[in-house]
Amino acid sequence: MSLLSSRGGRRGPILCFLALLFVFGLYQLGLICGPSKDGPTSMMIAKEKYVVSSLDHKKYSYDRTMPLIFIGGVPRSGTTLMRAMLDAHPDVRCGQETRVIPRILQMRSHWLKSERESVRLVEAGISKEVMDSAIAAFCLEVIARHGEPAPRLCNKDPLTLKMGSYVLELFPNAKFLFMVRDGRATVHSIISRKVTITGFDLTSYRQCLTKWNHAISVMHSQCKEVGSDKCLMVPYEQLVLHPREWMKKILSFLDVPWNESVLHHEEFINKPGGVPLSKVERSSDQVIKPVNLEALTKWVGHIPDDVVRDMPDIAPMLSVLGYDPYSNPPVYGAPDSLVSDNTRRVLADGEIWAAKARQLSLQRVASMPNEEDPSDSPNA
Ligand SMILES: *[C@@H]1O[C@H](CO)[C@@H](O)[C@H](O)[C@H]1NC(C)=O
Repeated sequence: MSLLSSRGGRRGPILCFLALLFVFGLYQLGLICGPSKDGPTSMMIAKEKYVVSSLDHKKYSYDRTMPLIFIGGVPRSGTTLMRAMLDAHPDVRCGQETRVIPRILQMRSHWLKSERESVRLVEAGISKEVMDSAIAAFCLEVIARHGEPAPRLCNKDPLTLKMGSYVLELFPNAKFLFMVRDGRATVHSIISRKVTITGFDLTSYRQCLTKWNHAISVMHSQCKEVGSDKCLMVPYEQLVLHPREWMKKILSFLDVPWNESVLHHEEFINKPGGVPLSKVERSSDQVIKPVNLEALTKWVGHIPDDVVRDMPDIAPMLSVLGYDPYSNPPVYGAPDSLVSDNTRRVLADGEIWAAKARQLSLQRVASMPNEEDPSDSPNA
């Protein structure tokens, strides 16, 4: 009897401690709400959300605490290559640009800009919590359901990074990959491929470089603000020159195990669990090729002399990011042998790649109607 009671006496506090630990765990996961001063005493709780994979028939649940991956950068900076390399990994699915995610984020910032509207929303019960919960749910539904289920979901809508710190408020365990590329190359690509982005005047290198400078400095400060454990800067040129070294760094930053597939993304185009391509996205015809040097210095010789002369003043972010504004082109470095071999293959037979693009029904750049890239406003 005395034995029993002494045991029970010890077990009681332990069970109590474990129960507390469990409740604390739920609280940490955001599954239950802490007491709030004037909040409601009861609340609505969403059902668990999940999708079922047609590949392994497993149930994949999704919620705001999952470790989402967001790829950002100025359009035409290698964001599609980045997501294709990650899509080749069996554990990661990014998929095509969703376009609607940066739009809803931008819509919210428009709502908040008007003080009158903000008051009306709060008076209507649409508090910050309600708004955030609704916008997170919208983004999450789109990210989880626009492609195959995967243990790690990823989103590539380049301009979302402009609102990076807000995205982290919605998804506290998310991480960002910030694609950085020589702005002269990015702008040449925007202009020569006629990529319409709100605010960019495709007839002027000078104006586009100014806009590039603004967009990249907003993203750069967002990346700094969220911190180096949440945002990794990936220089496009270095990813292309040294894909193994950089993918090792990137996967370790994301806590994703290494897999060789990421160095051969071109073998997984439109395959189950692989790299789904949009027929109308502009970068699709480039990522059907293996990582190669084709795009690195295409811009050289295309920028007007007066713009080249004024480069440090037009685009001061070049120096900030480590690109010499006076070098045309700067020395980006020597490629790994994998990349020079790939480049030889790509340059040797252009017709093979053209045929492949036709076979995948990718639209040619010239035949594409102009389309606005969503959500590029200077102050977003
Ligand atoms: C790497 O990915 C492939 C599929 O893309 C898979 O078959 C293989 O088992 C993976 N290797 C490792 C080491 O996880």
